[in-house]
This record gives sequence, structure tokens and C-alpha cells, in this order.
Amino acid sequence: MRYALIGCGRVSANHIAAAADNGLEIVALCDLDAEKARAQKQRFSLPDSVGVYTDYREMLRVCKPELVAVATYSGTHADIAVDCIEAGCHVIIEKPIALSLADADRIIEAEQRMGVKVSANHQNRFNAAVQQLRSAVRTGRFGKLLYGTTSIRWTRGEDYYKSADWRGTWAQDGGTLMNQCIHAIDLLRWMLGNEVTEVSGVTANVLHPYIEAEDMGFALLRFQNGSVGMIEGSINTFGGDWEETLTIFGEKGRAKLGGMCVNVVDEWHFADGDDAESKTVKGCGEDPPNVYGFGHKSLYADMIEAIRDDRKPYVSSSAGRRALETVLAIYRSAADGKPVKLPLESCSTLDFKE
Ligand SMILES: NC(=O)c1ccc[n+]([C@@H]2O[C@H](COP(=O)([O-])OP(=O)(O)OC[C@H]3O[C@@H](n4cnc5c(N)ncnc54)[C@H](O)[C@@H]3O)[C@@H](O)[C@H]2O)c1
Repeated sequence: MRYALIGCGRVSANHIAAAADNGLEIVALCDLDAEKARAQKQRFSLPDSVGVYTDYREMLRVCKPELVAVATYSGTHADIAVDCIEAGCHVIIEKPIALSLADADRIIEAEQRMGVKVSANHQNRFNAAVQQLRSAVRTGRFGKLLYGTTSIRWTRGEDYYKSADWRGTWAQDGGTLMNQCIHAIDLLRWMLGNEVTEVSGVTANVLHPYIEAEDMGFALLRFQNGSVGMIEGSINTFGGDWEETLTIFGEKGRAKLGGMCVNVVDEWHFADGDDAESKTVKGCGEDPPNVYGFGHKSLYADMIEAIRDDRKPYVSSSAGRRALETVLAIYRSAADGKPVKLPLESCSTLDFKE
């Protein structure tokens, strides 16, 4: 399958490796800065035939990829993805899939109209520990779901924000909830049943005066099934990236994932299990070198299978929209100082610019 990547920055190596590991034929790398695309071509020893482009529309026209990944600034995802879809490509879109609900809806509309597949790049769903937890939720081992909490305790300093001027802006990024925490927010919503009816949020920017958006965010989510979700996200953690955890409490079980990015099972205790099971499952998982984890490879494998079997990708565009909606609802609640009801009518990060 002919594949191209648009955006050759920090996360691009995970995409190129995932494409190569899944046997895709990489036909082009595209970046506004041709040097960045060339550097990745060289790093991965890609053949001369791989095109380097600065204009993705020209790349689509000339190279005719079947599958494209979009890993550019978040505020550009929707326009680029819709152009790729309208060129007939299947598309993997880095998270967040867009920065407004209207843009997310444009992507979903184009996907349906063109009959292609779109996957939101929430790769942590494929972590072994996350899959273990998901299976316990799906098979009803928790009994009635009571509540879930997620904590994202990472560190991003001035060097990170100064490395690219789109970071931390309302037009292109949002703050830590939209950028770093959205993976965990996706998981929390997915585990607790997807249907959120009300969101209360508080955001703050205390240590990053040079960015527009928040460096800490907190929220309570009320779900239709009666369960409650709690979110704590910070990039102000003293001493460097510490952990990303997800804990689910049910009437008949409790489980906690931890590690740097929900990559290890820390607690596993169910009424229908025993000590032996808890002992075996605790500690299971992977030990990735950074917070991006190993999930890109599995997400690509799933997308390739979804295209081949003409089924929905495991992480659909609608899932990407739900994660986006949750973060926008937290922003809306924090700005208005009161809870907001879901579904949100319309909302964009640009609404919070002042
Ligand atoms: N899934 C993950 O774990 C993960 C990790 C990091 C970043 N991301 C997401 O990936 C995206 C990129 O993040 P990054 O940290 O790699 O950013 P980056 O700034 O390092 O790279 C983005 C690249 O996109 C290029 N670009 C921008 N507009 C373009 C266009 N129109 N055509 C071609 N190239 C264009 C830029 O020149 C830049 O090189 C963001 O949306 C971010 O949220 C996801």
C-alpha cells in the first residue's frame, strides 16, 4: 500500500517506523521545511525513489498515496486531512484530530462521502496494559462502573515551547489538556462508557507565561451510566515526567494502570479473580523509551486491516471527536465558571483566545 507522511517533526519517526514495520511502501515525506523531510529519509535509509515535498497537495497529485498520515500542527490537521480524503486517501490523523467541533465534523463528513477510512492517532489504546483493562470492562468484570480517575503528571519547560512557535497557542495547539492529556482523556471516556452528560473544569497557567493556554487542568465528568470521571493533568511536575495513570473502580473490581504513559498494570483486583491472577497481571506491560510508547505500530496494523477488510478502524474519527469534545467542554466550563452539558453545540479553541 502506497504511504506518505505529512509533517516530519518530533513525532514523525514513530510514524515512519510504524509504516516500515507494517510493510507499507513509503512513497513520500512532506514538510514545509524540506530539510526535515530529507533528514528523516536519511535516518531511515529510505530509497532514492521516496519523494521529498514541501507542498502536500503537489505530493498527493504526483505520488498518489493510498494511505497518508497527518502529523503537522494540530490546528492544520482538519484542512490537510480533508484535502487528503478528497484525493481518495485513507488517513491517520495525529491527535487531536482537530481543534474545533466544526472541523472534526468536516473530517467525518468527508470520510463518509468519499468512503475512505480515518483513524485518530490515540495509540495508547493499543498498550498491552490498556487492552487488559479494556477486556475487563468489556466482559463486565467491574460490575457496575462507579468512577475512574486519570493523572497526567509530566513536565514541559520553556525549551519545549520555544522549539516551535505553534505550541501552546489557541490557534494551533491548546494547552496541556489538548496536547499531552488528550490520550488519557480518550481512555477514561472510552472505559467509562463514552456517553458524558456534564463536564466541570478548572484550568490554570502558573509556570508558563509565554504560552496562551493552560499548563494545568482538572475536571469532573458525569457519565450517562451514573459513573464519574476525574481528570488531573499537569506539565508542571517537579523533577521531570513522572507518570500517567488510569484507575477504574467498579462494584466488583478495581484496577490501576501506571508507568510513564499507562503502560503497566499497577493494581488488579476482582471479585471473580483470585490472588494468583492479581499476581500474574500486576506488573504486566511494556517499558517504552518515551511517553509516545509503542502504540503507533499497532495502530498502523489496525488501519491496514481496516482498509483491507472494509471495517471501521479501532480508533475511529468519532472517537477522536469525542476526545476533542471532552477537552473543549473542560475549556468551556473553566471559562464560564460553571458545569457544561454535553453534547456541546459548537466549540473551538479559538473561542478561548482572550
Ligand atoms: N500521538 C502522540 O503521542 C504524539 C506525540 C507528539 C505529537 N503528536 C501530535 O503530532 C502533531 C505534530 O507534533 P510534533 O511534536 O511532531 O510537532 P513538530 O513541530 O515537531 O512537527 C510538525 C511538523 O509539521 C510541519 N508542517 C506544518 N504544517 C505543514 C504543512 N502544511 N505541510 C507540511 N508540513 C507541515 C512543520 O514544518 C513541522 O516540521 C501534533 O498534532 C501533536 O499533537 C502526537
